[in-house]
Amino acid sequence: MDAISVIRTKRDRGELSDEQIDWVIDAYTRGEVADEQMSALAMAILLNGMNRREIARWTAAMIASGERMDFSSLSRPTADKHSTGGVGDKITLPLAPLVAACGAAVPQLSGRGLGHTGGTLDKLESIPGWRALLSNEEMLHVLDTTGAVVCAAGDGLAPADKKLYALRDVTGTVEAIPLIASSIMSKKIAEGTGSLVLDVKVGSGAFMKTIEDARELASTMVGLGTDHGVKTVALLTDMSAPLGLTAGNALEVRESVEVLAGGGPADVVELTLALAREMLAAAGLTDVDPAKALADGSAMDVWRRMITAQGGDPDAPLPTSREQHVITAPSSGVLTRLDAYDIGVAAWRLGAGRARKEDPVQAAAGVEMHAKPGETVQEGQPLLTLHTDTPERFEYAIQAVEGSYDIAAPGTEYAASPVVRE
Ligand code: URA
Repeated sequence: MDAISVIRTKRDRGELSDEQIDWVIDAYTRGEVADEQMSALAMAILLNGMNRREIARWTAAMIASGERMDFSSLSRPTADKHSTGGVGDKITLPLAPLVAACGAAVPQLSGRGLGHTGGTLDKLESIPGWRALLSNEEMLHVLDTTGAVVCAAGDGLAPADKKLYALRDVTGTVEAIPLIASSIMSKKIAEGTGSLVLDVKVGSGAFMKTIEDARELASTMVGLGTDHGVKTVALLTDMSAPLGLTAGNALEVRESVEVLAGGGPADVVELTLALAREMLAAAGLTDVDPAKALADGSAMDVWRRMITAQGGDPDAPLPTSREQHVITAPSSGVLTRLDAYDIGVAAWRLGAGRARKEDPVQAAAGVEMHAKPGETVQEGQPLLTLHTDTPERFEYAIQAVEGSYDIAAPGTEYAASPVVRE
């Protein structure tokens, strides 16, 4: 077998055989297939697609590239969730401790920012002392003692995805349904969770721009999970506007703590509770009410234990930006659009994300929003505050947000997109 014949098969719109898939994933993991060959194959897959058999085999080969974890020693049922990526999507932060407070064990292997989308690990690393890298034993210990753990996947788990994910990020091959589905599901199946809730984002700030593509991605992932014995459900949720009022690492931690304290923006609270209910139902815990665990402080207690168990100080002040730039509303009226992609790009350019995978991120950089779509704004009021430690970044970020919003005449109707269960 050789890489060129595998690339040619997909380039010429052929179906990859089981043997071709098994070989190419294994050879790429071992370094026998070069990055340039895998990137050519990823582009051929993005352009010509894969059928369900190919996706299932590709996912199985990625799982087999590394180890599998086993949570069967835990006394609680396991429940996990994964978002396909968005702007201001800080939901994991309040959700993991909330679901743990309701009786499930939440093993949340998370990622770093990809392109204009934020990453859960980058956000949590803005908490002084907090560590994303845990050994498998440490991960099990935190999970067992606090009920929830949010950490990076260990090197041994789906190593083929680790290499391919970094390659796709820099070769324009992220937005392919077979590659996204196999990337997410290989990690989740190898992780060993009993149940999984997928938050499939749709809209300008998501990788899936249309509801049809989001449905296709959701049904592909639910099929893969179910075939591997993981109880899997998917919600389709709106990502045409950012979630909440912040996009950026420390800014989003602050907003998540507000949610855990019983406040926070309504859309973040609504989605956190919707996903919590799905996770608890999937784990067989149907007689608990997550709204109660948010109100009575028990979710906050788990958050504090979880952060402390990973070296973080939940009481330490979060970093704040050295420089801010305020953008004001040019007219009075109803904010009818605040584009998630543009805000994500601005946060990224301010330093919240990376241009190259080895770049550091700025903990305090990002965008604070002062109004949500549907709200009335007055001419001259602050609309957005841009945060960075490096003010030379403002110019580029201001360009990104210039066309990011529409303000319509006072009284204009606005309907938010509902959460859809698949
Ligand atoms: N999240 C992942 O883990 N993989 C992708 O390809 C996209 C989002």
